[in-house]
Amino acid sequence: MLLSLLISLSHAADADAGKATYDVLCSTCHGATGGGDGVAGASLTPKPADFTDAAFWAERTDEGITKLIVEGGMANGKSPLMPPFGASLDAAKTADVVAYLRTFKPAE
Ligand code: HEC
Repeated sequence: MLLSLLISLSHAADADAGKATYDVLCSTCHGATGGGDGVAGASLTPKPADFTDAAFWAERTDEGITKLIVEGGMANGKSPLMPPFGASLDAAKTADVVAYLRTFKPAE
């Protein structure tokens, strides 16, 4: 019983696990608090997406965001400065990162 609960939990998207990935792979560009203001992102044009902006979330779905993280910006009509992460993140890790990005979304 407990074991099956643990297994099902381990498959749910985990924002805390996503934070660990984000802090290593994404924060340099997107900023530690998701504002699109990381040290490496400051000089980029276009700027890395600001995940604290309600307008960003209004126009996007989890599917679209997931696809972009896997394939990168260029494959999706966005800037090639947004790298593809399909080779370094498996589906579970990608879902965890998306769950973490959602924690930056402003309350409505
Ligand atoms: C080298 C800098 C860089 C890194 C590292 C980076 N990004 Fe980005 N990201 C960008 C830039 C630049 C854009 C803006 C692309 C555009 O608007 O054309 C972007 C855009 C995005 C978007 C929004 C795309 C949209 O729908 O407009 C998402 C989601 C995203 N990044 C997620 C991530 C995640 C998750 C990671 C880490 C796994 C990451 N990024 C790492 C530079 C980066």
